[in-house]
Amino acid sequence: MLDTVTRRADAEALDRADPLAARRAAFILPEGVIYLDGNSLGPVTHKAKARVAEAVATEWADGLIRSWNTAGWIDLPARVASRIAPLIGARPADIAVGDSTSVNLFKLLSAALDRAGGRKVILSEPGNFPTDLYVAEGIAELKGAELRLVEDVAAALDDRVAVVMVTQVDYRTGRKHDMAALTGKALEAGALVLWDLAHSAGAFPVDLTGADADFAIGCGYKYLNGGPGAPAFLWVAPRHQEAVSPLRGWFGHAAPFAFENHYRPAEGIRRFLNGTAPVLSMTALEAALEAYEGVDMAAVREKSAALCDLMIARVDATCGDLVTLASPREAALRGSQVSFRFPDGYAVMQALIARGVIGDFRAPDILRFGVTPLYTRYVDVFDAVEIMAEILTDRSWDQPQFHKRAAVT
Ligand SMILES: Cc1ncc(COP(=O)(O)O)c(C=O)c1O
Repeated sequence: MLDTVTRRADAEALDRADPLAARRAAFILPEGVIYLDGNSLGPVTHKAKARVAEAVATEWADGLIRSWNTAGWIDLPARVASRIAPLIGARPADIAVGDSTSVNLFKLLSAALDRAGGRKVILSEPGNFPTDLYVAEGIAELKGAELRLVEDVAAALDDRVAVVMVTQVDYRTGRKHDMAALTGKALEAGALVLWDLAHSAGAFPVDLTGADADFAIGCGYKYLNGGPGAPAFLWVAPRHQEAVSPLRGWFGHAAPFAFENHYRPAEGIRRFLNGTAPVLSMTALEAALEAYEGVDMAAVREKSAALCDLMIARVDATCGDLVTLASPREAALRGSQVSFRFPDGYAVMQALIARGVIGDFRAPDILRFGVTPLYTRYVDVFDAVEIMAEILTDRSWDQPQFHKRAAVT
């Protein structure tokens, strides 16, 4: 249906009919920018901006240390958990919010190996996000386990596999795993499953409980819009909650303010917390999550698929001979991003950014565009592709300033 969108007016008509269109007003988006990078860093919401300013001005400046009690700082992780829960098909009581995704992975991978009945293989994919692979290498070294990387995880399950560690949506291509199907196969093979939801939470409906998964981690600064370096989250199925975190901190203690010399893990998910929460970041994340209040995640998924389909159709029509689609064509197999391969992808992305279209580049040759249905419009996708086609056709990307690599791509 979306290859019938050939004029900007057609895209405008889709925006007029979009049931999520009004959600865009919650976000601060710079004039003249088409932001297709919310899968790297979500934009700030009006609410989050105001809440952080207020927290600094009143809770920190006036309340000082009293605010741990009077402003409810101590309960922030639990409050944020309750806002994340509906997005991932989980109970708030099974989610701990804090630390980075990498640190949370360290905690849960260690816990998973402890509960794997002596099995010693961590099974993952060579295309998994590097931090996941690095953390797994470290845990494997510490625990005398083996990290095994294979293209087809389901086919490589055997009775030595302790835990399958997979990212649901591939950060380069956007390929999406069927969570229920892969979890089912792993459980059948006697393995545990740990899902990285960095590119899933807030992007489409996730149902950890329905899939009967074991463990999950996810990111606060991408689709959840919590701000740069926002706290991450972890989820542990109730049946695994007597596992103990290898990082034992006082906020995970049964009685933090008893100041005992020995560690006694808190009951339930709180034992996976460690140290003091980053209150201002946590405040930003809590406020940002209001943008999801009352949102039908099925509608988010539907619009995400349509935006991605539109992008693919417009690239096919305007510059499909110049780039190679790296994402699955079939919407059911994709997350909420579209990627293209181009040998000088870095320079093309810099040229796009110079024209106000912000996506990102992932080595070696991926142009990556995230779509975020709460604020991405059909016209944004239409205009972005028009600009990309121009840049590719007139080769304006091939200028020295666009080849100069910055530290962050
Ligand atoms: C799949 C995946 N996992 C983890 C991370 C990042 O982890 P951290 O927040 O610890 O830097 C990313 C970041 O892009 C990611 O794409």
